[in-house]
Amino acid sequence: MDILVIGSGGREHAIVRKLKESPKAGKLYCVPGNGGIACDAACGPVGAMDKEGVLAFAKEHKADFIFVAPDDPLAAGMADFLEAAGFPCFGPNAKAAEIESSKVFSKNLMKKYGIPTAAYEVFTEQGAALEYIREQGKYPVVVKADGLALGKGVVIAQNEQEAEEALQSMMEDKIFGDSGSRVVVEEFLTGPEVTVLAFTDGKTLCPMASSMDHKQAYDGDKGPNTGGMGTISPNPAYTKEAAQRCMEEIFLPTMQAMNAEGRKFKGCLYFGLMLTPDGPKVIEYNSRFGDPEAQVVLPRLETDLAEIITAVAQERLGELEIKWSEKASACVILASGGYPGSYPKGLEIAGLDEKGQIAAMPEVTVYHAGTKRENGKFYTNGGRVLGLTALGDTLEEALETAYRAVDMVNFEGVMYRRDIGRRKL
Ligand code: AMP
Ligand code: GLY
Repeated sequence: MDILVIGSGGREHAIVRKLKESPKAGKLYCVPGNGGIACDAACGPVGAMDKEGVLAFAKEHKADFIFVAPDDPLAAGMADFLEAAGFPCFGPNAKAAEIESSKVFSKNLMKKYGIPTAAYEVFTEQGAALEYIREQGKYPVVVKADGLALGKGVVIAQNEQEAEEALQSMMEDKIFGDSGSRVVVEEFLTGPEVTVLAFTDGKTLCPMASSMDHKQAYDGDKGPNTGGMGTISPNPAYTKEAAQRCMEEIFLPTMQAMNAEGRKFKGCLYFGLMLTPDGPKVIEYNSRFGDPEAQVVLPRLETDLAEIITAVAQERLGELEIKWSEKASACVILASGGYPGSYPKGLEIAGLDEKGQIAAMPEVTVYHAGTKRENGKFYTNGGRVLGLTALGDTLEEALETAYRAVDMVNFEGVMYRRDIGRRKL
C-alpha cells in the first residue's frame, strides 16, 4: 500500500516514521513535507490546502491511501474531495471536522447531548458579550474565537479590561478573520489537563495512550500560547478511574452524538480534557492528531498504523486489538528565537548529521517540524523547528534522555522549555 501523507510538521513526520515501520506500507509520500520528512518519504511541492494539486500528485504516484493530517484541509473538505475521486482517506469529512473548526458547533453538541464541558454563551456582538461578562463578574473568564485560529484563538481574561481587549481584537479588529465573527464566552475551569487521542470509525472508538501538552512558550507555563512546546505520555494525572469515566461520559457519547447528527466521525478524534473537581470535562475537540502529541503517542504504538488507518476507512476498527508500549515518552520542542511571534528562518542547524551523537541514541527520535535541507545540511524554516522524543522505562528516564539530546543540537537563538514534564499536578 503506497501512502500519501498531507502536511508538513512534526506530527506528519511522526506519522511517516510510524508508517515506515509497517510491513503493509509500500512507498511513502508526503506533501508538502519538510527537510526531515524528505529523508523518510518522497515529498512534492504541493500545498496542504491545494485539493487539485494533491489529487494530481496522488494520481501521478498511484497512491493507494491518503492520510490527511492537519486541521485546515480537513475543515475545507480535503477528505470529501479525495474520496469522491476514489482515494480512500484517513481523516474526517468536512461536516465531521466541524467538531474542531467551529467551537460554537462543538459547544452546542455537548450541551445537546449532555457531555460535560464548561458553561458558556455564544455571542455575535461585542456589546452583548461584554455585558454578559460584566453581569457574571467572575474572573478569569475564557473568550474563544469560533473558528480555527492556529491554536491562538483562546484568551483567558483576568479582568474586565482584558476581556474587552480580547473581544475587540477578535470581533472588531478581526485578528483571526471570520473565525472571530462569533465568540464563545465560557467559565474558567481548573484541574490537570489531559489529551486523549482516539481512533474511531463511527462504530468503535479506541482511545490511545494519554498525553500532556505544554502550550505556553516559557517555563512555568508563562508567556503566550503556542502550538505546543513539549509533551509527555502517559499523562500521570490520567488514572484508570478517570479513563473509565471519560470513556463512559465523554468519548462514547461524543461518537454517538456525531452519528445522531449525521456527522459520522472517521479518523483521529482529539479530546482536550480537564480533570476538574467535578469530574472530567471537555476543553476542546480537535479533528486530527495533536502536534506535538503525535510525537509522544505514536512512538508508543505497537500495532501496525497502516493496518489501523485502513480499518478505520473500511469501518472495521472493531476487529483490531490496539497495543501500546509500557514505556514512557517525552518530546521537547526546539523553536526559533521569537516564536510564537516573528522569528528568523534559514539558520543552519548543528548536530543532526548521520554520524552525530543523536543518531547513536536508539531511544531518541528527531522529528522535523520546520526545517529545510540543502546540500546535505538542515536549516530552520519555521517557528517550531524540531521535536526531540525519547522513550524510557520511566517518565523520568525519558525526560532525562530527551534533554540530553537537546544539548546535542543547536542553532542561533534556539528556544525551548526546560521544564517539560515537571508540572506540579
Ligand atoms: P484550546 O485552544 O481550546 O485548547 O484552549 C487553549 C488552552 O486554554 C487550553 O489548553 C487550556 O489550558 C485553556 N483553556 C481553554 N478553555 C478553558 C477553560 N474553560 N477553563 C480553563 N482553561 C481553559
Ligand atoms: N497540541 C495541541 C494541538 O495540536 O492542537
